[in-house]
Amino acid sequence: MTLLKIAQVGTPILRTVAEPVSPEALASDEVQTFIDDLIETMRDARGAGLAAIQVYRPLRICAIEVEDNPRYPYKPNIPLTVLVNPVLTPLSDETFENYEGCLSVPDMRGVVRRHARLRVEALDREGNRIDREVAGITAGTFAHEVDHLDGKLFLDSVTDTRTLCTWKAFAMHYEDQFRRNVESVVARYGS
Ligand code: NI
Repeated sequence: MTLLKIAQVGTPILRTVAEPVSPEALASDEVQTFIDDLIETMRDARGAGLAAIQVYRPLRICAIEVEDNPRYPYKPNIPLTVLVNPVLTPLSDETFENYEGCLSVPDMRGVVRRHARLRVEALDREGNRIDREVAGITAGTFAHEVDHLDGKLFLDSVTDTRTLCTWKAFAMHYEDQFRRNVESVVARYGS
């Protein structure tokens, strides 16, 4: 396994639109090894997700996993999920406010409004079709990662720039309130 370098905000590739992956390319040893490295890099950096574009590969691939993540202690767990060519469709008008961070945006968090229910259509890393629903905080995590594939960062969607804060300021001033918000979202949507 190789740990990959994570592009930081201001790096032009983060603002490009990633290319779809053909079934043949997906099946190649090269892309399969890349996916292994993407997962390893996400785990090493303690991210909840990581998109290929963030490691300088503009392909429509992202990995998501939350397992008692110390960086996001309030996030419900998500089993390892690799999405290839994902398409997200809101299933209702319901939204919630999510305090987000990103491995490509060092020491910054901010509030983004996310859809509470999404349909996820994609391929998995073996090329099998995924068609499922995600809800609540987990839907926010999926939306954040898929935004990366279209050159978007959470900074673009921050509802009020006054919510921007360092991780230290988040812990000091916002985390208690946000954890209560998360509990109500999880109680409502189950994740
Ligand atoms: Ni991110």
